[in-house]
Amino acid sequence: MSENNPLLRRVYALDGDKEETRRVYAEWAEQYDRDTLDGMGYVAPGLVARDAKVLDAGCGTGLAGVELKKLGFTNIDGNDLSREMLEVAGEKNAYGQLSEADLTVPLEIADDSYDAVISVGVFTSGHVKPKALDELARVTRKGGQIVVTVHEKVWEADGYPDYLEDMEMRGLVNIQAVKEAPYHRNEGYRCQICILEVL
Ligand SMILES: C[S@@+](CC[C@H](N)C(=O)[O-])C[C@H]1O[C@@H](n2cnc3c(N)ncnc32)[C@H](O)[C@@H]1O
Repeated sequence: MSENNPLLRRVYALDGDKEETRRVYAEWAEQYDRDTLDGMGYVAPGLVARDAKVLDAGCGTGLAGVELKKLGFTNIDGNDLSREMLEVAGEKNAYGQLSEADLTVPLEIADDSYDAVISVGVFTSGHVKPKALDELARVTRKGGQIVVTVHEKVWEADGYPDYLEDMEMRGLVNIQAVKEAPYHRNEGYRCQICILEVL
C-alpha cells in the first residue's frame, strides 16, 4: 500500500471542501483514466455491474459505465460534482443523462427512479460520507439494488458498518452482502463492496 503516489496523496487529503474537490478533479479529468487504470491498476469499476436501469452516482470519467456497457446495459445515467469529469464521461458513449450533482445534499431525482444505483470510488476519504446512502436508497425503487465501493481507509473511520445496520433498522435496506475486494491493485488498497436491497 502506498501513499507515495502523489495523485492518491492529493485525493486522500481532501477534507470534503467542494471547491477544492472540484479543483482537484478538474485538473485530473483528462489524465484520470490513464493514471488510475494503467498506473494504479484500478479494478473497482469492473466489480459492481448488475442488470438494471442504473444510476452511476459519482460517475467521474465513466469507467463503471464502460464496464456496464460491455455487459450489455443501455440505460445508464451518471452524475458527478465535477463538470470536467462528466465531460470525459460523455465521450464514452455509455450514458444517457449525465448531470452535475452533489451527493451530500438532496438529489433532484424523483423517488424510485432507478432499478439500481452504483457508486464506485466515491465513498472514500474527503469525498462522500455514509449519510449519502439515504438519498441513493430514496431514488432506487423498492426491490432494487444499491452497489457501492467503500474505501478501506474510511470503512471503520467513517462508521459504515454501524450506518448500514442503522439503515436496516430504519427499514430502508436489507444488507445482501459486504465483501472485501481489491481496489487499486498496484497501490495495495482494498475496499468493501456493499450490496443493498432497497425496501
Ligand atoms: C475517485 S473518483 C471515482 C470516479 C468513478 N466513479 C471511478 O470509479 O473512476 C471520485 C469522484 O467523486 C466525485 N465526487 C466527490 N465528491 C462528490 C460529491 N459530493 N458529489 C458528487 N460527486 C462527488 C468526484 O468529482 C470524482 O469524479
